[in-house]
Amino acid sequence: MTMEDANAAIKDTIHDVHVILERHGSVSDASLAAVGERMKELAQRDDLEEVYQAAAARGERLFSEPEGLQLMLSHFPETTAVHTHGAWGVMVGYRGNERYRQWVREDDGSEPGHAKLHLVRDVEVKPGDVGWWFAPPNDIHQQLPEEGGSVELILMGNPPSPTRLYFDLDADTYTEATPAERHYPGR
Ligand SMILES: [Fe+2]
Repeated sequence: MTMEDANAAIKDTIHDVHVILERHGSVSDASLAAVGERMKELAQRDDLEEVYQAAAARGERLFSEPEGLQLMLSHFPETTAVHTHGAWGVMVGYRGNERYRQWVREDDGSEPGHAKLHLVRDVEVKPGDVGWWFAPPNDIHQQLPEEGGSVELILMGNPPSPTRLYFDLDADTYTEATPAERHYPGR
């Protein structure tokens, strides 16, 4: 297998994802589950790390459209904060295991800094397992990798926003910050 094979497989996947999204007509559990099933096929390749390294060296993702789909190989060295992305996303476990949690907003967003979250998914994600989160304001999740970290193939609906919301579940509050500032609270 060559890097060209991997990049061709990535382009095929993106093409099929567009077809799936058009067929479903909306971002929903059903459409994102179908996208995840298609991504699972790509996640079976054992050369994605190599493609990621080459893309990262150019400051790029595995694949990105100017305002559309973004495919990335994401590395989670430790438990993340509860955070948003400014985009919907679908993930497939690639290396390592993690616990994955997803929430939706229960409040109406009218009070700045306040957010009441409702947990809708709390699952184990092993290589080949699929998860997703919805479009804003329900693009809220957390990765809790096992010792040694985890790696996931992630597709987002649009480029992630430079600042994200970071939630305090005990206080029902959030703050807006850059990933560098808040993504890994353990640091
Ligand atoms: Fe995330």
